[in-house]
Amino acid sequence: MKRMLVIAGALLLSVGAGIAQQDVVKQTQADMKGNGKALGGVLTPMVKGDKPYDQAAVNEALKVLGDTAKKLPTMFPESTKGLKPEGDYSSSPKIWEDKAGFAAKIESFAKVVTEAKAKIKDLDSLKATVPAIGKECGGCHETFRLKNG
Ligand code: HEC
Repeated sequence: MKRMLVIAGALLLSVGAGIAQQDVVKQTQADMKGNGKALGGVLTPMVKGDKPYDQAAVNEALKVLGDTAKKLPTMFPESTKGLKPEGDYSSSPKIWEDKAGFAAKIESFAKVVTEAKAKIKDLDSLKATVPAIGKECGGCHETFRLKNG
C-alpha cells in the first residue's frame, strides 16, 4: 500500500513537471506573439502610413522587443525540447543542437533592438530602422522555428 502511494506520488510529480514545461512553452509562444504585435501591429503599420507616427507607441513596442531579447536566452530550457505549443509554430531541435548559433542570433537581435531605441526619433528614422529589425526576426526563424503540421 505504501509502495503504491509512493508510485502514485511520483507519477503525480512527473505529470506536474510536464504541465509546468508546457506552461513554459505557452509563455514563450505568448512572448513571441507579443513580438509579432509590436512589429506587425505597431511599427510596420506606421512605416506603411496605416497608422500615424506615435513616439510613445514606438517606445512601448521597442520595450516589448527589448524585454523579449533579454528573456530569449532562458526561454528554451532543455526540458522543453520537443514540446509543441498549439498553433502554427514550434521550436526547432536546432535550438539545443546548435546552442552557439542560437545564442548568436539572440545577441544580434538584442543589438539591433538596442540600436533602434537610440535611432528612432521620427518617421524617417523609423522607416530606416524597421527593416533591420524584421531581418533579425526572420534570420532566427529561418533556422530555429518550425511550422507545425
Ligand atoms: C533568437 C531567435 C528568435 C528571434 C530573434 C525572434 N524569434 Fe520569433 N520565434 C522563435 C522561435 C524558436 C519560435 C517558435 C516557438 C514558438 O512559437 O513558441 C518563434 C515564434 C514566433 C511567432 C509564432 C508564435 C506562435 O506560435 O503563434 C511569431 C509571431 C514570432 N516568433 C514573431 C517574432 C518577431 C516579430 C520577431 C522580431 C521582432 C521575432 N519573432 C524574433 C525565435 C525567434
